[in-house]
Amino acid sequence: MSALPTKLETLAVHGGKPVREKLLPYGRQSLDDADIQSVVEVLKSDWLTTGPKIAEFEERFAAWVGARHAISFSSGTAALHGAAFAAGLAPGDEAITTPMTFCATANCILYQGATPVFADVSPDTLNLDPAQVSRKINARTKAIFAVDYAGHPAALDELSQLAKAQVPRAFLIEDASHAVGAEYGGKRVGGIADMTIFSFHPVKHLTTGEGGMVTTNDAQLAEILRRFRNHGISSEARQRQEAGQWFYEMVLLGFNYRLTDIACALGLSQLEKLDANLARRREIAVQYTAAFRELPVLCPAVREGVNPAWHLYPIRLRLEMLATGRAEIFRALRAENIGVNVHYVPVHQHPYYRERFKSEERYPVAEDAYERLISLPMFHGMTDRDVDDAVHAVQKVVRHYSR
Ligand SMILES: Cc1ncc(COP(=O)(O)O)c(C=O)c1O
Repeated sequence: MSALPTKLETLAVHGGKPVREKLLPYGRQSLDDADIQSVVEVLKSDWLTTGPKIAEFEERFAAWVGARHAISFSSGTAALHGAAFAAGLAPGDEAITTPMTFCATANCILYQGATPVFADVSPDTLNLDPAQVSRKINARTKAIFAVDYAGHPAALDELSQLAKAQVPRAFLIEDASHAVGAEYGGKRVGGIADMTIFSFHPVKHLTTGEGGMVTTNDAQLAEILRRFRNHGISSEARQRQEAGQWFYEMVLLGFNYRLTDIACALGLSQLEKLDANLARRREIAVQYTAAFRELPVLCPAVREGVNPAWHLYPIRLRLEMLATGRAEIFRALRAENIGVNVHYVPVHQHPYYRERFKSEERYPVAEDAYERLISLPMFHGMTDRDVDDAVHAVQKVVRHYSR
């Protein structure tokens, strides 16, 4: 681990030598020969889609997260849409969610014709603040979509109590796209909320290229989700082929949101490495937190009883102690070839949301955080050298601008 540089180095943005020659991305997948072999086997088999790898991946994933049912989808976004449908969201309904997320979390509420209602986040975790949710919840609230921001589980107990106290009862839907393997109260997320959503995009802990999953302990919800992702049809092609039957019925309006056997074979192989991937991300988070202790930045908080999964490592700049803003620091880090990013532009600030809802409402915690956030590289394939480079660059740049 590099120590704090003793004298100020010239920043790359000012013509100095960059910390790295080649860009270190903020996230990327790691694939090995076993992953490739697993996919090749499916490519040589009879079933590229709707075949046996799907149930195998779903069963193994459900067991790994500790849920009774897992239903695969073609993306995390499709999985969110499935959950919004299964919760029965319809025009006239409201669903409460966080502005500090990728727009897909709120968009799935709109797909169902329902209204997203934003509630501000807690200053420590940037997760949905239950006190703000309780101000927004009412008889029209059908669901709360909580997000495990950066991989830190949301306040699931408090949010679940709020959802259950509602008449009629609202659903707690956890968008754990960042949080596969995160623990809450000693349990992995996946079987805690009414439905939990995962994403298998390449920057995540486990990838299928594109892909997603909904997990639930509720057999009825699982059945609706299975039909929804297959056009609303009550049986699957392979079941019909094996039973020698042609007849099928479409019983609800669904979509083709199926994940292929090709993708599920990759998922099965990636699942083998999930524990190791999580361990590596946790190790990197510890190193970052230790390295930035003396700098005017706020590292991500970890609440008691929680073990985050560290999809992201977002620092917040203490702008009061810096001579410049986030944009300049971001630019300087990129010039050092550190692939920093920002998560997220608060959803209500996107032009589509501003124009559609014309709301004047402010979310001070999320909005203030947005001005300060920078996500550092965080992926399980990072070498010690990569971590050192990221640490070195942050120290170099932030010290340069410290007052
Ligand atoms: C919080 C959150 N929800 C949903 C999604 C959508 O997932 P996908 O890209 O698999 O559709 C993402 C994607 O990164 C995300 O970060």
